[in-house]
Amino acid sequence: MSETARMILDGQEYEFPVISGSENEKAIDISKLRGSTGYITMDPGFKNTGSTQSGITYLDGENGVLRYRGYAIEELAEKASFIEVAYLLIYGDLPNKEQLQYFNDSVTRHTIVHENMKRFFDAFPLGAHPMGMLSSMVASLSTFYPESQNPNRDITDIDLTIHRLIAKLPTLAAQAYKHNVGLPTMYPKNDLSYVGNFMHMMWGVPAEDYEVNPIVESALNKLFILHADHEQNCSTSTVRVVGSSQANLYSSVSAGVSALWGPLHGGANQAVIEMLEAIRAEGSPLQSWIDRAKDKTDSFRLMGFGHRVYKNFDPRARIIKKAADEVLGQLGVNDPVLDIAKQLEEVALNDEYFVKRGLYPNVDFYSGIIYRALGIPTDMFTVMFALGRLPGWIGQWKEMTENREPIGRPRQVYVGATERAFTSLDAR
Ligand code: SDX
Repeated sequence: MSETARMILDGQEYEFPVISGSENEKAIDISKLRGSTGYITMDPGFKNTGSTQSGITYLDGENGVLRYRGYAIEELAEKASFIEVAYLLIYGDLPNKEQLQYFNDSVTRHTIVHENMKRFFDAFPLGAHPMGMLSSMVASLSTFYPESQNPNRDITDIDLTIHRLIAKLPTLAAQAYKHNVGLPTMYPKNDLSYVGNFMHMMWGVPAEDYEVNPIVESALNKLFILHADHEQNCSTSTVRVVGSSQANLYSSVSAGVSALWGPLHGGANQAVIEMLEAIRAEGSPLQSWIDRAKDKTDSFRLMGFGHRVYKNFDPRARIIKKAADEVLGQLGVNDPVLDIAKQLEEVALNDEYFVKRGLYPNVDFYSGIIYRALGIPTDMFTVMFALGRLPGWIGQWKEMTENREPIGRPRQVYVGATERAFTSLDAR
C-alpha cells in the first residue's frame, strides 16, 4: 500500500505521496503542493529538501556509511583504481577488463590540451589561485569542442566530452601549478597510469625522466577515490542545476569547481592547514581555539570539523587519518601539524559543544596533511579535491541529463516593499 502524508491548510486536508528509496529513506513528494494549495515550502540551505532521486551515492550520516553504486568506500579505497571508480560512478557498474581497457585508452588519448590554452595561462598573474585558473580553463574547453554544446545530447558527443574532460583536468591542474612555480609545463606521457601521469606533469621537468613514486601514486589514488562523489553536496548540486538549463558539461563542471572553492566546502582543506599553521605559530593552548570556535561572537570556526550529513563520523576522515600516518611514515616526513591536528581532534571530541552538535572531523581535516607531505602547495589542495570529485560531478550531470530532469528554478517568499508609485528626483 503506497504511503501518503496528510497536511491541513486553512482548514482543508491535503494528501501527498511518500517516496521510499532502496535504502528505505523517506520523502514527501510535494511536486503538486503549490498547484493544489497555493503554498510553497521554505528550507534555507535545503537542509530538509531532496532535489532528485539518484542511484549513484548513498550516505547514512548517522552510521557513517558511504557507498558508490552500492560498493562501500572502505573497499573501493583499498582495492580499486581511481579510473575504475570513475567508470563505476559514470556508467553504473565496475568495468570488466575490456570496458576498463577501452575507457583507459580513450582517456589516455585525450590527455593533451590545445596549445592555445598555454596563452591563457600566460595571461594569468603569477600567484593566481589555481582554482580560479581551473574553473576558467574548464569552461573554455567548451569553445575548443563545440560539439559539446549540442543541447540535444547526442550520446556519442556526451561520451567523447566525458572522456575529454576526465583526461584533460589533470593536465590543466598541473599547468596551473607549473604557472605559479615558473617551471615549464610537461606534456602527458601515455605509458603512465592516470595518477602517475598527473604526477609526471606536476613534478616532472624536461631535463630528466620523472620516476613515479609508488607510495605517492597509491596515496593520491586513494585520496581521489575518497573524494570522488558525495551525493547532492553544494558543488554537485551546482553542476546539476547549471546542467539542468542544458548548459554543456564543461560549463556545468566549471560552475562546480567554483562552488567547491568556498572555504565551507572543498576550500576547507586549504583553510584547515592555514588554521593548524596559525595554531602552531601562535603556540596558545588548543582549548583557547576550541573556545573561539564555540563563541558565537567570534567568526572563527574549527575548519575541517562538522558536516551537513555526517553526525557521528565521516568514514573518509577515518581512512585519511590512517593514511596520513602511513604515508608520512613511508616518506619519512615528520610534520608537527599532524600532531596538532590529532590533539585538536582529541580536545574537541571531549567537548560537549562539539559532541552535542555532532561535529566530527570531515574529509578535509586530515587530507591537507597528506598533500603537504607529497609536496603539494596549500593553494593546490582544493584543486586536488576537484580532481577527485570530477567523476562524481560527471556521473550526476549524466544522470540528470538522461532523466531529462526539469530546469532547476526554486520559488521564494517575497518580503520586500509592497507596490508604491514612482517619485521624481526632486520629490525624494
Ligand atoms: C565538505 O556536503 C558535503 O557532502 C560536503 C563534502 C563533500 O564531500 O562534498 O563532504 C565536503 O564540504 C566538507 C565540509 C568542509 N567544511 C568545513 O570543514 C568548514 C567548517 N564546517 C562548517 O562550516 C559546517 O560544519 C558545515 C558547513 C560543514 C556544515 O554546516 P551546516 O550543516 O549548515 O551546519 P550549521 O552551520 O547550521 O552548524 C550547526 C551548529 C551551529 O551551531 P548552533 O547554531 O547549533 O549553536 O554547529 C555549529 C554551528 O555554529 N558548527 C560549528 C562548526 N560547524 C558547525 N561550530 C564550530 N566549528 C565548526 N566547524
